Amino acid sequence: MLTSEKSAIFIALLYTSFLVTHACDTATGVRFGYSGKTGPKHWGSLSPNFTLCSKGIYQSPIDIVKDFAVHNPKMEPLERDYTAANVTMVDNVFNIALRYNDTSGAVKVDGKKYKLKQLHWHSPSEHTMNGQRFAVELHMVHYADDGNVTVVSILYRYGKPDPFLFQINDTLAELSAEGCKAEKGDPLPVGVVNMKELRQGAHRYFRYLGSLSAPPCTEGVIWNILGEIREMTKEQAAALMAPLEGSYRHNCRPLQPLNGRTVQFYERSRKL
Ligand SMILES: *[C@@H]1O[C@H](CO)[C@@H](O)[C@H](O)[C@H]1NC(C)=O
Ligand SMILES: *[C@@H]1O[C@H](CO)[C@@H](O)[C@H](O)[C@H]1NC(C)=O
Repeated sequence: MLTSEKSAIFIALLYTSFLVTHACDTATGVRFGYSGKTGPKHWGSLSPNFTLCSKGIYQSPIDIVKDFAVHNPKMEPLERDYTAANVTMVDNVFNIALRYNDTSGAVKVDGKKYKLKQLHWHSPSEHTMNGQRFAVELHMVHYADDGNVTVVSILYRYGKPDPFLFQINDTLAELSAEGCKAEKGDPLPVGVVNMKELRQGAHRYFRYLGSLSAPPCTEGVIWNILGEIREMTKEQAAALMAPLEGSYRHNCRPLQPLNGRTVQFYERSRKL
C-alpha cells in the first residue's frame, strides 16, 4: 500500500473514533478516571488498594523548579542498553502502552539494574518544568528483580514529527478501530521497534523520589525526567490518545505537593 493511502485510512480511522461515543462496559474492576466522580480527587477512596493516592506524602507528578534542583556529582549518566525490542500494544483504558519482555533491555540507577517492562503516554504532560506544562509525557517504566520501580520520563512539545512513533502508527490505528473490544483484549503485536531514539538525550536529567502517577499510587518510585524537551506533531499526539474513551484522552494527574523533597540533577561536563 502507498504511504499516502495508508495515512488516508489512518486519518479516516482517527476520525471515526472521534465520532463514535464508546459505551464501554465499566462493570469489571475498579475504574478510576481523570474527571468527575472517579477523578484524581477521589482516587484514594475508590478502593482500599488506592489509599496512598490520598494519604501518600511522596506523590507524583510534581513541578520541577530548575533553580531549586541540586546538582549531585555522584549521579551518573543514565546507562540504558536497549537497542531494539519485539513489543506488543495494549489499551489499558486509562492509557495506551507498549509491553516489553524481560530481554528488551534495562537502565542502571545507582548501580542497580531495572528492566524495561512497559512505556505509555500522558497528554498533556504530568510533570511541569518551572510551571510550564508540555503537550505529551512518555513514561518508560522499569522494574528491578526486587520489585522496585524507576521511570524515565520524556517531555514533548508540538513540533517536528517524532520518528519513534512512525513505528507504531499502524498498530495505533488498529487499536482505535477495535474500540471497546481493545480494552482488556489481547495485546496487539507491533513487531520489532528500534529503541535508539528513546535511549538518547540523557546528558541532563532530574531525579526525585515519588510514586506511580496513577492508582495504586505506590511510593518509592525513582523518577528520572530528561531535561531535553522533544517534539512530536499534533497529529501524532492525537493518534496516541485516539483509541481511548473521550474522558481518558486527558490523562494527566494534577501536581502533588513536594513535602520537603529535593530534586537532584545530573549534567554531563558541567562547569563548576
Ligand atoms: C487489592 O489488591 C489485591 C492484590 O492485587 C487484590 O487481590 C484485591 O482484589 C484488591 N482489592 C480491591 C478491593 O480491589
Ligand atoms: C515478535 O513476537 C510475536 C509474538 O508477540 C511473535 O509472533 C513474532 O514472531 C516475534 N517476532 C520476532 C522478530 O521475534
